[in-house]
Amino acid sequence: MEKRSNFGSKIGAVLAAAGSAVGLGNVWRFPTEVGNNGGAAFIVVYLLCIAFIGIPVMLSEFLIGRHTRANTITAFSKLAPGTWWRLEGVAGVFVAFIILSYYIVVSGWTLFYFIQSVGGQLMADRDYSLVYNDFVTDPWMPVLMALAFMGLTHVIIARGVQSGIERFSKLMMPMLLFIIGILVVCSFSMPGSSEGLRFLLKPDFSKITGSVVLSAVGQAFYSLSLAMGCLCTYASYFRSDTRLPKTAMGVGAIDTSVAVLSGFFIFPAVFSVDSVSVDAGPGLVFITLPSVFNIAFHGVPWLGYVFSGLFYLLLMLAALTSAMSLHESVTAYLLETFSISRKRAAIIVSVACMTLGVACSLSFGMWSHLTLFGMNLFELFDFVSSKVILPLGGIIICLFTGWYLDRRLVENELTNGGTVRFRLFRLYYFIVRYVAPLAIAGVFVQELIA
Ligand code: PHE
Repeated sequence: MEKRSNFGSKIGAVLAAAGSAVGLGNVWRFPTEVGNNGGAAFIVVYLLCIAFIGIPVMLSEFLIGRHTRANTITAFSKLAPGTWWRLEGVAGVFVAFIILSYYIVVSGWTLFYFIQSVGGQLMADRDYSLVYNDFVTDPWMPVLMALAFMGLTHVIIARGVQSGIERFSKLMMPMLLFIIGILVVCSFSMPGSSEGLRFLLKPDFSKITGSVVLSAVGQAFYSLSLAMGCLCTYASYFRSDTRLPKTAMGVGAIDTSVAVLSGFFIFPAVFSVDSVSVDAGPGLVFITLPSVFNIAFHGVPWLGYVFSGLFYLLLMLAALTSAMSLHESVTAYLLETFSISRKRAAIIVSVACMTLGVACSLSFGMWSHLTLFGMNLFELFDFVSSKVILPLGGIIICLFTGWYLDRRLVENELTNGGTVRFRLFRLYYFIVRYVAPLAIAGVFVQELIA
């Protein structure tokens, strides 16, 4: 068996975990959910979910991973041998696999749009909703793009923890933050942007319903990469002197900033281009932004190429760092459980995900008539994972750390064996024991009844 790897540095650990968190969920899914759920009020609920549920659950995952230094399934079995808790590990790895299968589809779109931007096709007067529809319903191109994207993810994962995951995250994350900053400034300077700002900043609390709250919880989990074994797996590569609370807050802060900044970038732009509506769904980023680039840089097309090219490149790379963590969650399990080489484990995961990914991609076109509960395969995967398995997984992780594990073990791990202080430990413990599980369960049950 190969020696277990570690992240080489603390900053590498933070950036890898932040790389997992920051992804399509921030730039593509978050604005879509904001648009569908009424704007500012949703954002307020979302921020509360991040602070009071997301970060404590992340800390729990961190401590489970680092304490056991194993993949998620083994981690639960080690801490609770011979019990049903193991199933939470199984659910985590399973859902990571499912999410990766559809994640590569949208990631493939970003790759396509990147190529289009560089080729100049995005800087033309076209109807971008038509362009988008033609593209996603095409049987070949999106599939090809998803496969190419999966290939990239595969190569990095096969290289291993330090020279693959860590190295790549350290390179990409600072670039990503920089470019989002530039885009926000551009977007604000567009005419009509103030209406978009109002949509983001003036909460209408009458819009908050059970389903809005469930969406916010689901989005918080999704965006922070919780309950799918990713952060647990990454934490198993943390060094023993990595401070878990500080790391969790750092990751939460980076992730939330990117999501909110994306909102601030996208909505003012959406409102300034009136042919697009805010609840355009998954097409928001792929229909609105090309129009925006086109209008904003009409006079200086080369700047448009540069900006749109950079935007889609970075969106793709953000997706890549997230896809890496999903892949690693499953790969680490195979590699450690069946004692096979990393390369072989990675190949199994890649091929299996590619197969499902092709089906997800086709569900936009050729197979769009195959639906279950009114959802195509892609929507079904997204719904089941983010609205069912993730919230349930969150509850189980809280119950596990709050009630099953020995309090001393938890405190010991969070304070690195008592060598560093964690002032908010009591608050954390109270949240994972009572607040988070009850809150998630309440929202979940309400949705089931409704
Ligand atoms: N958090 C990622 C995002 O925001 C998505 C993701 C989910 C990544 C689960 C890893 C695990 O896009």
